[in-house]
Amino acid sequence: MKNIAILISGLGSNMSAVVRAAERDAWHDRIGARVSIVISNKPGAAGLKFAEDNGIPTAVVPHQDFPSREEFDSALAQVIDAHSPALVLLAGFMRVLTPAFVERYQGRLLNIHPSLLPAFPGLDTHRRAIEAGCRFAGATVHQVTAELDHGPIVAQAIVPVLPDDSADTLRRRVLAVEHGLYPRAVFDWLRAR
Ligand code: GRF
Repeated sequence: MKNIAILISGLGSNMSAVVRAAERDAWHDRIGARVSIVISNKPGAAGLKFAEDNGIPTAVVPHQDFPSREEFDSALAQVIDAHSPALVLLAGFMRVLTPAFVERYQGRLLNIHPSLLPAFPGLDTHRRAIEAGCRFAGATVHQVTAELDHGPIVAQAIVPVLPDDSADTLRRRVLAVEHGLYPRAVFDWLRAR
């Protein structure tokens, strides 16, 4: 069985999309994969309830309990490693990871980012895309490397930027395509391995 660990910090709508797709498309039977743990660095993350309601084990590793990034990351890795995951997904996980953590999961660590990388790494992507006059925006699934939002691109989806878009209307349009993109990319990734 290929275990998938998903890391969230908030709403977890991308995590929910992966969980739903795994169920709907019978990943268990077709590629021998399942979401085996959802981990949050925030105790109140809304996504935890969705996971629990769907019978998926959850864990919380609160980053503020640790004096350094290194100690937080090593506590996080312990929880992850208990599931021997084939794939670790960052899904709105709002922590910068240490190079040691990234190295440990090299080749099995993916992230979804709400821009067409390599354009607009970092935060506030939708406002920046509008201000730059982009006619298209989108989302990118990429491998995670030590440099933030810069790893090899795995899959992308695009949406138009409309003339009267605000950062929020664009954010919602991008998020809607993320929910199709991430599950598809994860399925293809695991099927190929
Ligand atoms: C998404 O836009 C994702 O691309 C970015 O953070 C947001 C997370 O949303 N990394 P959610 O928690 O999956 O709803």
